[in-house]
Amino acid sequence: MSKSHLYVTRRLPDPVMTALTERFHLTQPPETAPPNRDTVLAGIRDAEALICTLAEQIDAPMLSKTLHLRVIANYAVGYNNIDLDAARARNIIVTNTPDILTESTADLTWALLLATARRVPEGHSLVQHGSWTGWEPRQLLGADVFGRTLGIIGMGRIGQAVAQRAAGFKMPVLYHSHTPKDFPDHSSWKSVGLDDILAQADFLTLHVPLTAGTRHLIGPRELQLMRPTAFLINAARGPVVDEAALVEAIQEGRLAGAGLDVYEHEPAIHRGLLALNNVVTLPHLGSATHATRIRMGMVCLENVVAVMEGRPAPNRVA
Ligand code: DGY
Repeated sequence: MSKSHLYVTRRLPDPVMTALTERFHLTQPPETAPPNRDTVLAGIRDAEALICTLAEQIDAPMLSKTLHLRVIANYAVGYNNIDLDAARARNIIVTNTPDILTESTADLTWALLLATARRVPEGHSLVQHGSWTGWEPRQLLGADVFGRTLGIIGMGRIGQAVAQRAAGFKMPVLYHSHTPKDFPDHSSWKSVGLDDILAQADFLTLHVPLTAGTRHLIGPRELQLMRPTAFLINAARGPVVDEAALVEAIQEGRLAGAGLDVYEHEPAIHRGLLALNNVVTLPHLGSATHATRIRMGMVCLENVVAVMEGRPAPNRVA
């Protein structure tokens, strides 16, 4: 039996590539770096299935060039890189990878929060550069985390997983959610309005998807409401924060710092952010563990195979 044609934009972990090539004919060799638009166009032209990442914009003009495409499996839980309406108009099913990256992303959020509060990258770099001359009473003093108030905007799977970890730090949890949510098992988690969470959080972490409604959710007005001792953590999507306004707020001492895993124009980063010692920057590592990235690939495979076999895709979003 001849194999169906699949275009995988990027080289996924080895066990995933092995599973994909056993089952499918790849229309193009997957790339390690983000492919340019022409390469993606060439890859999808004759493909029946596409596995892409958040770094590839799959828009209406691009989809208009596909002849046989039946399914797009996004190698991510967020799918703001895909024009869902254009896909629907062409009867192309779109899927994502929910659940499996929740815990890895929550872990990374905490790594970022702790690294930012306790100045971990600055300490690491001091030692690495041979500049450490010994213990000093005033060296790299940071902010306490234990017992401080954690604010979570977006209380979906990842937001909740972040909240669960706060118990170990005895942190009161405030959350703000677009859709009303109740957590009967967590009576200490308190739902508050946007302005209240901004005003009360010592650490404010964002876990909303990127939509028209969440773009620049945190802008000059919101930053103005935050405490000058507070930290902003973002491991969701960069454009949720107005980066220029964030730089200004930190430069002017209106915010203590930020921990960022995502950026408004990835992979470009606002130069102002890079110049600030109290901003910790990571290269979008939320889901980056061996096990999670393999599971994400296997979920993409399951979704593609389901569509090819005429079964419902388990993680359909459009
Ligand atoms: C996602 O799945 O949306 C993450 O950002 C990828 O790591």
